Amino acid sequence: ESDFLVDRFGRVARDLRVSITEKCSLRCTYCMPEEGLEAIASQDLLSVEEIVRVVGVGVDLVGIREVRFTGGEPLMRSDLESIIAGCARRVPGIPLSITTNAVGLEHRAAKLAAAGLSRVNVSLDSVDRVHFAELTRRDRLPSVLAGIRAAAAAGLAPLKVNAVLMRETLHGAVDLLRWCLDAGVELRFIEQMPLDADRAWVRESMVTAVELLDELSGHFVLEAIGREDSSAPVEEWRVDGGSMTVGIIASVTRSFCSECDRTRVTAVGTVRSCLFSDREVDLRDALRSGAGDRELADLWRGAMWDKWAGHGINGADFVPPERSMGAIGG
Ligand code: GTP
Ligand code: 5AD
Ligand code: SF4
Repeated sequence: ESDFLVDRFGRVARDLRVSITEKCSLRCTYCMPEEGLEAIASQDLLSVEEIVRVVGVGVDLVGIREVRFTGGEPLMRSDLESIIAGCARRVPGIPLSITTNAVGLEHRAAKLAAAGLSRVNVSLDSVDRVHFAELTRRDRLPSVLAGIRAAAAAGLAPLKVNAVLMRETLHGAVDLLRWCLDAGVELRFIEQMPLDADRAWVRESMVTAVELLDELSGHFVLEAIGREDSSAPVEEWRVDGGSMTVGIIASVTRSFCSECDRTRVTAVGTVRSCLFSDREVDLRDALRSGAGDRELADLWRGAMWDKWAGHGINGADFVPPERSMGAIGG
């Protein structure tokens, strides 16, 4: 049996994404319900030590090469610095990153960088304060922009911005790109996937990569570059012949599932083989009942062997997963 996380379609998962909480400081309509997700009892969350153990097993025994912490919002955990420091000690040389909304990052960026964080991706859909507040149901744009500046100042580079494409914010795409070009950060637009807690997503009203390119082409000269490597979800375009690029993650209209190299662990310690599959394998019970590293690795390999060929969003019999994005982490 191979040491790696191989599935029955021959893909190898090397990119680990660990969700550490389902709490969030914002309520983006394409992700969270207005009232937030149901709280997880603290004893049900993986502890700092348990997260470090899982990451260690991932790197030592099943071939993980990079680790990203997500949420909910990872900054909602006050022990995020300890998680990063613990992992940086346990798996030196492995890039550690977070995907964050950057609310409050201003006060923690330097500490996170010192703890060993390599990079951050910030979710930001609009640089217009009113539109930002409508979409996220919270008036926190100034904190987000301060967080981005603090992360850059702390050397957390390259910093990338993720913007989910919504009808309501498409007209602001040009301004958002201008802002990112000025700030020297890489912007990637994301096609909205049916992972919202409110189950309001409909294929027909989704903004596609083609529509976005059409909108941007009216204001910028875009030159297609393609993907950095075949498993990168993002396709890139050079902007106005300069050194900056804009990316699109077209998960729905140009699915990259056949090249997927991701494995996920939820905040409660289950392995998830795909964003869209609710067939999870529990590592937490094994961890807490004294399982050895090899046993954990075997459970993990078993979970990934079952990974689906792809998300099936475009199929007639598609059913969204039970967990919404806020409970998976993107
Ligand atoms: P980089 O390595 O910095 O490029 O990060 P990334 O793009 O892998 O991570 P990030 O957390 O910034 O993810 C950006 C978006 O890509 C997510 O919000 C999802 O919409 C999408 N995405 C990430 N992973 C997957 C995946 O496995 N499947 C699909 N369909 N979409 C994904
Ligand atoms: N479709 C695509 N991306 C989403 N994200 C949240 N919800 C969705 C969705 N329904 C993105 C966030 C963030 C990342 C964690 O996932 O914008 O960048
Ligand atoms: Fe991988 Fe599933 Fe995402 Fe497709 S939808 S890229 S298979 S995690």
